[in-house]
Amino acid sequence: MKIEILTLFPEMFETFKSSSIVGRAVEKKLISIQTHNIRGFSDNKHKQADDYPYGGGAGMVLMPQPVSDAFRYVFSRYSEEQKPMVIYLSPQGKVLTQKLARQLSKETALILLCGHYEGIDQRAIDRFVDMEVSIGDYVLTGGELPAMVLTDCIVRLIPGVLGSSESIVEESHSAGLLEYPQYTRPAVYDGDAVPEVLLSGNHKEIEKWRRMQSLKNTLQKRPDLLDKAVLTTEDLSMLKELKNSL
Ligand code: ADE
Repeated sequence: MKIEILTLFPEMFETFKSSSIVGRAVEKKLISIQTHNIRGFSDNKHKQADDYPYGGGAGMVLMPQPVSDAFRYVFSRYSEEQKPMVIYLSPQGKVLTQKLARQLSKETALILLCGHYEGIDQRAIDRFVDMEVSIGDYVLTGGELPAMVLTDCIVRLIPGVLGSSESIVEESHSAGLLEYPQYTRPAVYDGDAVPEVLLSGNHKEIEKWRRMQSLKNTLQKRPDLLDKAVLTTEDLSMLKELKNSL
C-alpha cells in the first residue's frame, strides 16, 4: 500500500516512518509512506499557505491553491485506475473503528490530508476528499497525529506486516471483546504469582480461563461492547456467573 501524506509539518512523520512495526513494513516494502509539504506548493513568493477566514473569526485557513496543487501533483503520479482514495483527518469525520481500518487496509493507495489552524478552504475539500475520518470525539491542533494513528491502525492489518508471533495475539475489538491479561517470567515477582492455570500446560483450561478473563474485562471496563460481540452459549453462561459474582 502506498500512503501519501499532505501536511504542513512533514518532520512530524520522520520518526514514525522509521520506527517499530511501521518502520519494518516500510523496510520490507510492504508499504511506502511519503510526505508532501503543502507549503512547498504555494505559488505565493513567501510560500504562504494560509490566510484569514472570510467573514472573520479566529485562526487561519489553508488556502485552496497550495492544497489543490499538492493533490494534483500526487495524482499525476498515478494512473486513473490506481487513483488513491483521499481521506481528510477531521473531527467532523466518520469515527475510526477496527471495522473501518479493516476496510481501508484493502486499498492500494491512500492520500491523507492533514489540516491545521482553523481548517482548510471548503472548496479544496469538496473537490478532492472522498472520506473524512475522525480518531475520536475530541479536538487536536492538527491532523498529523490522527494521520499517524490511522496509518498505524491500517498498516498492522496488511498481510505480512506483523510477524507470526505478533499476529497470533488475539486483538481487542476485532473479536468484539477486550483482551485477557498477559504474564511472562518470572512465575513469582515480588511476592505476586502468575495465575496457576497458565503454568498447568492444560491448553483447554487455559483457553477457558482466558475467555472468562476477556468477558470479565469487557463487562467491567466496556460493557457497551457486549451488545455487539459474538457470544456463544458458553460465553453467556460465563457472563451470568460473572455478573452474579460482582
Ligand atoms: N483534527 C483535529 N482533531 C481531530 C480528530 N479528533 N480526528 C481527526 N482529525 C482531527
